Amino acid sequence: MNTIKNDKSLITMNEGKVSITVPHFDKISAKALVFYNPVMELNRDLSVIALQTFRESQDEDISICDAFGGTGIRGIRYSREIEGVQNVVINDLNPLAVQFTKENILKNGLTNVKVFREDANILMRKCRGKFHVVDIDPFGTPSPFIESATISAKAGGMLCVTATDTSALCGTYKEPCIRKYGSMPLKTEYCHENGLRILAGFIARTSAKYKKFIELKFAHSTEHYLRLYLTLGKGAKKTDLSLKNIGYIVHCPKCLYRRLIYGITPQIPSECPQCGETFQVGGPLWLGKLFDTDFIVKMMEILPSIPIKKDKEAIKLLTRCYEESKGPATFYDLHKISKKLKISAPPLNEVLNKLKEEEYFASRTHIKPTGIKTDAPLETVEEIIYNL
Ligand SMILES: C[S@@+](CC[C@H](N)C(=O)[O-])C[C@H]1O[C@@H](n2cnc3c(N)ncnc32)[C@H](O)[C@@H]1O
Ligand SMILES: [Zn+2]
Repeated sequence: MNTIKNDKSLITMNEGKVSITVPHFDKISAKALVFYNPVMELNRDLSVIALQTFRESQDEDISICDAFGGTGIRGIRYSREIEGVQNVVINDLNPLAVQFTKENILKNGLTNVKVFREDANILMRKCRGKFHVVDIDPFGTPSPFIESATISAKAGGMLCVTATDTSALCGTYKEPCIRKYGSMPLKTEYCHENGLRILAGFIARTSAKYKKFIELKFAHSTEHYLRLYLTLGKGAKKTDLSLKNIGYIVHCPKCLYRRLIYGITPQIPSECPQCGETFQVGGPLWLGKLFDTDFIVKMMEILPSIPIKKDKEAIKLLTRCYEESKGPATFYDLHKISKKLKISAPPLNEVLNKLKEEEYFASRTHIKPTGIKTDAPLETVEEIIYNL
């Protein structure tokens, strides 16, 4: 412990209501002595709000597992900033991370946080059905940890999952996505939404082995990462029903037509019915809801009571997610369609208003500023854009 105190090569960071010490770092890297990424502050802010929202749906105080603790900042914030937390377990395999976490817990005067140094899979397997919330925030892919996380959560509990391997999930590289998630990605304008759906589909299929089904509460793609919040229900019949949300997306790279195809072994057409081009096929993935509108409304209500620096970003993100929460899967890109039509893009708001006037669902998406989420057919969207 003495190595931590009185050392000039330490940095103190303030986030939310806590202050933590980290070893000096020149650049953010998995090779840092103890990993801390200030860019993830918004991720942690939203996590505090989402977990407070979840806590308010429970009739008892909650236990939380932060399985990849780093400096401990996440678990420490959960203990300090969420009302109604019974205890928090913070775990990390790196012994120095554990040492810093212990110091940071003392520094913030917390008494309900325990620290472990285990492989996350082992810790979560040992703690079968123990936690109301399990938070998975590893380097890169969460895929090797999902099954253990599913096991360590109580029935009705919440899983929070971060994935930073966006190049795999969002289709820059196909093979790693197939290896890690058993799914073919799509490199399209909506590839980040697709990434969220591949990850959700993987979690649904993994937890189904244990007769557990997922219900998505909130999801976002921000900066270099994807983040999902979902609850795990129990029951074979409900799990079978929930797996009906698994399917494929066929996408035409030439005319931008796309279609959802539900089922594990559906008949998948190979040619676009609009232009005859060969389809790109993505999946299996989650075609169900990515958001629970009521959950997001509650997050927006709770947000003002939680002191965070990134409040404007959080409000903007939640507002977009609320707007798109009742929309269908995938979205169009105003610029891509305008380019196809060989016209300059009209104002996005006018396109959305026109779609609504014609009684279609129409909203922006948090993923792309020029994205249009709508249930209108492609021809209608094109006609509206062309005539504005
Ligand atoms: C992305 S960092 C966690 C950041 C932290 N949650 C935060 O919000 O600042 C990932 C952490 O996982 C730890 N780690 C890597 N593999 C692990 C494993 N198999 N089990 C437990 N911890 C592991 C690393 O030492 C690192 O501290
Ligand atoms: Zn086509």
